[in-house]
Amino acid sequence: MHFLLSSIMEIFNATGNSAAQRVAEKIKTVPDHGFTEKFAPEPVLKHLSMTLFLPGAHAFTADINAVAEHLPWGKLGSHPPAGVTASGRTFCQIIGPEGLIKDDGFRMGVYFQAPDVMYPSHWHNAEEVYYVLSGTASWQKDKARFATQSPQSLIHHRPNQPHAMHTQKEPLLALWAWVGDIGFESYGIE
Ligand SMILES: [Fe+2]
Repeated sequence: MHFLLSSIMEIFNATGNSAAQRVAEKIKTVPDHGFTEKFAPEPVLKHLSMTLFLPGAHAFTADINAVAEHLPWGKLGSHPPAGVTASGRTFCQIIGPEGLIKDDGFRMGVYFQAPDVMYPSHWHNAEEVYYVLSGTASWQKDKARFATQSPQSLIHHRPNQPHAMHTQKEPLLALWAWVGDIGFESYGIE
C-alpha cells in the first residue's frame, strides 16, 4: 500500500475513536494507488507550507506538503459549491465517489483552511471525523462556544450536527472522512 494511505490508516487507528477506526478499516479495502498524476495548485495552497512550522504539527504534515501537487484539491465535480476555494479553504477527496481512488462507501481526504478564515456552520447526513495535522484553530459544534483544537486532535461530528471552523493566525491542515450517508445532497451551510 502507498505510504500515504498506510500512514492515514495508522493515524486514524491510533486515535482510539471508533468512527476513525472504521475509516481505517475501510481504507484497508481500497485498491493501491501510485499518486503519480499532478494537479494544478489552488491559490489558497500558497499558505500550505506554513503548516510545516506550526507548534505541535504531526510529522505527517511534511508528507502531505511533499505530495500536495499529487492531490486533487478542489476537483470534486459538482461539489464543493462554487466559491469555496475563493473563500480561503479547499479540500481534496483521495477516496470516494469522485476521489482519486473510487469508492462509493465512504469519503476520505485532506482539508486546508488559510489563516483568518471562517468556515461557517454547516451540516450533512454523513458522520464525520477530522484529524488535525497542523494548526491550532477554533472549532464549533452545534451553537456552542468555539473551542480551541490543537494538532493531533480528533474531532467527531454526528450526522447533521452543525459545525464550524475559524482559523486565526495559523492555517489548518486536517485529514477528514465521511461515513454513513455520504451524499452531498444533504450538505447545508449558513
Ligand atoms: Fe463537515
